[in-house]
Amino acid sequence: MSIPIRSAVFPVAGRGTRFLPATKASPKEMLPIVDKPLIQYAVEEALDAGATKLVFVTGSSKRAIEDHFDTDAELERALTESGKTDLLESIRNIVPSGVTCIYIRQGEPLGLGHAVLCARPAVGDEPFFVHLADDLIAGDTGCLAQMARQYDKQGGSVIAVEEVPHEDTSSYGIVAVDGDNRITEIVEKPAPEDAPSDSAVVGRYLLAPEIFDKLETTERGAGGEIQLTDAIADLLGESAVYAYAFEGTRYDCGSKLGYLKATLAYGLNRPDTGPALREHILEVLGR
Ligand code: UTP
Repeated sequence: MSIPIRSAVFPVAGRGTRFLPATKASPKEMLPIVDKPLIQYAVEEALDAGATKLVFVTGSSKRAIEDHFDTDAELERALTESGKTDLLESIRNIVPSGVTCIYIRQGEPLGLGHAVLCARPAVGDEPFFVHLADDLIAGDTGCLAQMARQYDKQGGSVIAVEEVPHEDTSSYGIVAVDGDNRITEIVEKPAPEDAPSDSAVVGRYLLAPEIFDKLETTERGAGGEIQLTDAIADLLGESAVYAYAFEGTRYDCGSKLGYLKATLAYGLNRPDTGPALREHILEVLGR
């Protein structure tokens, strides 16, 4: 029987430069898709997969995230007094009882690998999830829950992957796998001519705790950052790491176009906004 995955790590200390000036004073993880911030979608996916310890690795200008998951007694009182029960429900119990939130500062944004290493004291010696909130994945079953199911069958570490256009390999970690989907090679942002495949790592990981020892000695890699990909590459020889092709649609909400696509997809899918939005889009397109 496998160990249940209790901890979910949310690295939210990146600078979000692709979204400046919106991200100058407020984190990109607080950008809303319709009416819910990206980080709340992320937390809901982790809770759905069984996580009970939420570890946020934060940086400067990230106070809004702590405030979002904290109780706001004054706002609750005002909504109660004005009888706005639906809105009251939407801000209450965002984090259910029995779930712990832990905030750890990453002093300097030295890279995703470094951010994950910062979570070590909170995670301990157990397998854990890593969730990058700007990769929003829509689907019937949450991506982390799908990965936990896969882990129950195979153990090891599990990394979500998706096929990307060959010319885009230099934006992703790219993997090669054997016949059992065990990763044999992983490279960060290879040029298309050097990429071992078109299978790209997306922002969901289920990692064995041995990754922390690897991260302790990982040198700065692509872009001068301490890369999680490089630590995973180091792990491959010792411990099984599987690629998992998830079911669902991914939106890269760290990019402007991906964010707009997600807003449209989620807006169209909701009964309160869908019909009117569809009509408006057709009008704008002149159809
Ligand atoms: P990105 O590569 O998307 O970088 O980080 P970024 O800084 O957030 O955004 P851009 O590229 O400047 O627009 C991938 C994930 O890793 C986190 C980010 O918050 C994001 O979730 N990260 C990155 C950290 O937590 N710390 C870092 O030092 C770097």
